[in-house]
Amino acid sequence: MVKNIAVIRGDGIGPEIVNQAIRVLDKIGELYGHTFNYVDVDMGGCAIDKWGDPLPEAMLQKCIESDSVLLGAVGGNKWNDVPGHMRPEKGLLRLRAGMGVYSNNRPAKIWPQLADASPLRKSIVEQGIDFIIVRELIGGIYFGEHKTEVIDGIPTAIDVLTYSESEIERIGRIGFETAMKRNRKLCSVEKSNVLDSSRLWKKVMHKLSEEYPEVELSDMLVDNCAMQIVKNPAQFDVIVTENMFGDILSDEASMITGSIGMIPSSSLGSSSCGLYEPIHGSAPDIAEKNIANPIGTILSVAMMLKYSFDMQLESTAIEKAVSDYLDAGYRTADIMSDGMTQVSCSECADIIIEKLKKE
Ligand code: IPM
Ligand code: MG
Repeated sequence: MVKNIAVIRGDGIGPEIVNQAIRVLDKIGELYGHTFNYVDVDMGGCAIDKWGDPLPEAMLQKCIESDSVLLGAVGGNKWNDVPGHMRPEKGLLRLRAGMGVYSNNRPAKIWPQLADASPLRKSIVEQGIDFIIVRELIGGIYFGEHKTEVIDGIPTAIDVLTYSESEIERIGRIGFETAMKRNRKLCSVEKSNVLDSSRLWKKVMHKLSEEYPEVELSDMLVDNCAMQIVKNPAQFDVIVTENMFGDILSDEASMITGSIGMIPSSSLGSSSCGLYEPIHGSAPDIAEKNIANPIGTILSVAMMLKYSFDMQLESTAIEKAVSDYLDAGYRTADIMSDGMTQVSCSECADIIIEKLKKE
């Protein structure tokens, strides 16, 4: 197969982790006879520097016209003082909205080899951590009106949170469908004791559940969920939630698995063209040192193969190679522990590539 992939290296550690993931992808192409063509796209701080815009329209078009998009990370202190609508993150939000990728899938799964890296007690980790957060990605407070004005002589900031029934229903459906493919347990997370948008959210989820009688639906308030994720993560199979709650809970969920550097994500809408990115940020403090963990990005490529290109075997081959790499005792600095061999970002990819075998 021939696939055209839009590649956004972005800022900070973005370029180095994406370059390693591309090497892995090329090896898959070689083993399985696929051709992956890469189209460079500027987004984030580097696009502000080059074009004066975090995502020029022509760059967005390249992404929309591709078969899928691979993204490293954007942002950094250098652009902290630019106006809100020009921030590097704004490019990412425009990309998500422009591609219509409303469903963000973030797995929180502990690799047995990394159980010791979890900050949770062993007795909790041993019960298993394997759940997915399905996060609504192009609605809610992220996309409502944002403004700061002087009201009655006092500077006042306003951020609007809106959800329509149809926006909730389409993400709810993804939640139920995801649960159907797993252990059929769906936890809908909201703040219905305070927010109208959450009360509508809850109502829509319950209406949808009539179509999915095999899925056990539960409701949980977001503050309680934050607590339950560290207290008893084994209770979760699939969590479905709105944009900002999903942002926060997915960072928490990644942390209990040991390292945010290991977690990939997929974002999909109504077509097979998806956006794939590790969930961590651009980590400017460790940029250009070749010490970042490229596995979150490498596993994002595995998700791309599986969800957008229907290449199941190829995807499994990458996951297996990552597991073999961990089994062999190699670790990047973020997850280094006693008795392991520390490797750089590029060495990590070298070893994973060496371990890649045709399934
Ligand atoms: C994420 C990030 C982004 C978000 C930022 C960079 C805008 O934190 O993908 O989780 O909040 O969605
Ligand atoms: Mg986040």
